[in-house]
Amino acid sequence: MPGPPSILIDRFGRRVDYVRLSVTDRCDFRCVYCMAEEMTFVPKAQVLTLEEHFQLAQAFTGLGVGKIRLTGGEPLIRNDVLSLVKRLGQLPALHQLVLTTNGSQLQRMALKLRQYGVKRINISLDSLQPRRFRQLTRHGNLDQVLAGIETATAAGFERIRLNAVILKGRNEDEVLDLVDFAFRKGIDIAFIEEMPLGRIVEHDRALSFCSSEELRTLIAGRYRMHPLGDPDADAGPARYFSLPGSTTRVGFISPHSHNFCHLCNRVRVTAEGRLLLCLGNEHSVDLRAVLRSPGYTPDLLKRTIVAAMAIKPERHHFSNEGEAEIVRFMNTTGG
Ligand code: GTP
Ligand code: 5AD
Ligand code: SF4
Repeated sequence: MPGPPSILIDRFGRRVDYVRLSVTDRCDFRCVYCMAEEMTFVPKAQVLTLEEHFQLAQAFTGLGVGKIRLTGGEPLIRNDVLSLVKRLGQLPALHQLVLTTNGSQLQRMALKLRQYGVKRINISLDSLQPRRFRQLTRHGNLDQVLAGIETATAAGFERIRLNAVILKGRNEDEVLDLVDFAFRKGIDIAFIEEMPLGRIVEHDRALSFCSSEELRTLIAGRYRMHPLGDPDADAGPARYFSLPGSTTRVGFISPHSHNFCHLCNRVRVTAEGRLLLCLGNEHSVDLRAVLRSPGYTPDLLKRTIVAAMAIKPERHHFSNEGEAEIVRFMNTTGG
């Protein structure tokens, strides 16, 4: 039998060369747009071991995947996650090892992450006001995250980007403060339109929706912004603008107002080893079953991944009407 194809291409001709690995669905925060106050997490035995995550990474890089983003929940609270990061950093075919974090553990981990080969990190930051930060994250401590951002900027990552989900009536008045903050630090910032993942009760998503366009107009009142072109495979879903006189880029991730599915280059693996073919659809394949089957071989895993490309959906159908279409929460998906 011939071996599996060496790259991943879906039915629509999109090349998949980027995988987001969620190493845990747990988190030390409970951001209002991401989780319910009371959450049930996956029992530990059902979560992939670090060895299994590494086996997945080997399979994907063997199929032409050059970029892996570690996500969660909060990836940095996974026990011994640095040992996985270190091993991933040594995979020769992995050109970009990156991470998305809430920043709570960066003070103690940023240097090691950089040393082990993480190139870029995205850090969530929705408010610069301590009380509001606590309200939005339910558990977060702003000082701790700011100190983490400080440590990370000193650690020499190629790029650091802040992620801010803006909700009308909650933090929309901080958009300019957040841009000023990123500008002063010389780091990037992306504003994200909230996506209807998981049923939340804290706010009505239809009422809190803030379009990227509104935010761009607001920021343009203070900063001259130069578009950096349409998203490409490397830039991902964010559309970026440069700010003259600084290295800071301001990005907008607009799943509602600017669909980028036709450029999709990514798949996700949940902490339980479910390969999700799209953030906004339920199409998935159980890779843990393959990893734990008696007949497991690295080749079987690769074949399963290749076959899964046939069910990658063309696009998501998020609406901003407030109704959750996807029942799983973002912490399950890893963003
Ligand atoms: P890149 O690796 O640079 O593309 O980063 P990213 O922006 O994808 O990563 P990050 O983890 O910081 O995610 C920021 C936001 O983008 C989150 O809200 C993600 O859910 C969202 N996002 C990432 N990928 C996709 C996607 O394929 N579709 C949609 N709709 N949203 C996405
Ligand atoms: N919609 C949009 N972005 C979300 N995030 C978490 N939940 C949602 C949601 N429902 C963001 C976090 C983090 C990134 C991985 O996803 O703020 O920055
Ligand atoms: Fe945790 Fe990130 Fe979800 Fe906030 S958005 S609860 S930090 S996983």
